[in-house]
Amino acid sequence: MIPTPDLSHLTSEDYALTYEPAEDTFLFLDALESDVEDLKNSRPLICLEIGSGSGCVSSFIGQILGPSVLYLCTDINPHACRCSQSTGKQNKVSLECVNTSFASPLMSRLRHQVDVVLFNPPYVPTEYEEAHIAQQAKSISGAWAGGYDGMQVTNTFLETVKDLLSDKGRFYLVALKQNNIPEIQRRMLDEHNLESEVVLQRRAGREHLFILRFTIKKKVITS
Ligand SMILES: C[S@@+](CC[C@H](N)C(=O)[O-])C[C@H]1O[C@@H](n2cnc3c(N)ncnc32)[C@H](O)[C@@H]1O
Repeated sequence: MIPTPDLSHLTSEDYALTYEPAEDTFLFLDALESDVEDLKNSRPLICLEIGSGSGCVSSFIGQILGPSVLYLCTDINPHACRCSQSTGKQNKVSLECVNTSFASPLMSRLRHQVDVVLFNPPYVPTEYEEAHIAQQAKSISGAWAGGYDGMQVTNTFLETVKDLLSDKGRFYLVALKQNNIPEIQRRMLDEHNLESEVVLQRRAGREHLFILRFTIKKKVITS
């Protein structure tokens, strides 16, 4: 069993400003752990987490894959970037954190280079306006407000993730049942040629959480 990263350096003041790891985070760790052999065998070079928050998930995958991988993290919330950086340090994983929305300034440099993309997005269904204001505020409210059907923020990233993935790349996404999992899977296949599987799912209180893994669908060559 791979240990949960040490978060003892983070305080209640940090969690007033940054998303505190919760059931979704821990399900995400369990999903990565269940894929550990495939992840190692794919010999990744670059891992990118969008919305790294406390840095728990990137530090965890850093413990799995070791120091030969470049770990990039982004978060729209500057305090989350500071927490991710310190959590990496606390767990001896070197995390490069960028305070930005999604991977916007990195897109051209990382085009088809990223082997592992991770995103636990703000997935809670809210009013459109609430998600919009939360994204503008770049504060902790941006950790959960997902707009109509909870997909407003996620959908923006789903439009671009294919451009980041390497040929062997895999993309892990946290989603809620209300986000309409079959529709996400169908759309990603039809529009972006990304096939997917549910790696894990779990009920946690009122939430039914899913971890999806997307990979590029290979062309079948027929003679
Ligand atoms: C549900 S929290 C997940 C945090 C952490 N990855 C975890 O699993 O505990 C969502 C994170 O996404 C960040 N976020 C929201 N919108 C974002 C955006 N447009 N670009 C980058 N990060 C964003 C939030 O600030 C928050 O840290």
